[in-house]
Amino acid sequence: MKVNFHNQTNEDVKEHIKVIKKAFRKIKNKNQMEIIFVRPETIKDLNKTYRNINEETDVLSFVNDEEESKSLGDVFISLNRAYEQAEKFGHTIKREIAFLAVHGYLHLIGYDHETKDEEKIMFAKQEEILNKAKITREWIVLNKIEEAKKAMEKAYVPYSKFKVGAALEMTDGTFIHGANIENASYPLGNCAERSALFSAYSQGYKKEDIKSITIIANSDKAISPCGACRQVMYELIPKNTKITLTNLEGDIKETTIDELLPYGFDLDHD
Ligand code: THU
Repeated sequence: MKVNFHNQTNEDVKEHIKVIKKAFRKIKNKNQMEIIFVRPETIKDLNKTYRNINEETDVLSFVNDEEESKSLGDVFISLNRAYEQAEKFGHTIKREIAFLAVHGYLHLIGYDHETKDEEKIMFAKQEEILNKAKITREWIVLNKIEEAKKAMEKAYVPYSKFKVGAALEMTDGTFIHGANIENASYPLGNCAERSALFSAYSQGYKKEDIKSITIIANSDKAISPCGACRQVMYELIPKNTKITLTNLEGDIKETTIDELLPYGFDLDHD
């Protein structure tokens, strides 16, 4: 199935395109379809003009009825809505974007959810497609850990030989890696968590762009960040950031910065 992408927003949609391609890879359909990433105002306008509903929505599909056309039609996806819904349902943007694209595609080929029965069939089909492409919720958690492992491989640890990796998941779906980088003058080394955070800020990301942080090492139990990194995270990540601590054995601990560092240090000037 060939998907043509169009971006009408200022967002970087590279990762969204990747996950949609992944979702559609196994779909055998000789036709093409268009996916258009739009701003909330645009989807509201389309909803009002073509469906007489004066409200924002997440996804809209329009079947192409020109007989000669190879394109099944257009699927409009509101990126802002997708980000909000991913947050609300507690899964990643990748999962949400893939879900909306598949939902839109199923509308194009005739599925609907007007009645409870139709909805059951359509949603089962959606799950089937996403499962086949391995874009399940479980995949999402594993994906974060895979990213942390990739980060870990970049460690420079000639002295301790103890590799640590940190993967920051950003609200735009990108992952930023950090590894521990040591030095012959031992105290000058930097931990993985701080490498990741300093890298994100250096690339222009802000505190509110951070969604989760996953930290991994070859430790007996799930890795536990050092005190210095806890203080740095306390200042540089939002309070609700999901922190996943893990190891190569698969031990997983989910936590938050408030749990890791109660009474952290703030520079309050009264
Ligand atoms: N290390 C981290 O990267 N993160 C932590 O939270 C704890 C320790 C690194 C620092 C050093 O390169 C190695 O682990 C051994 O202390």
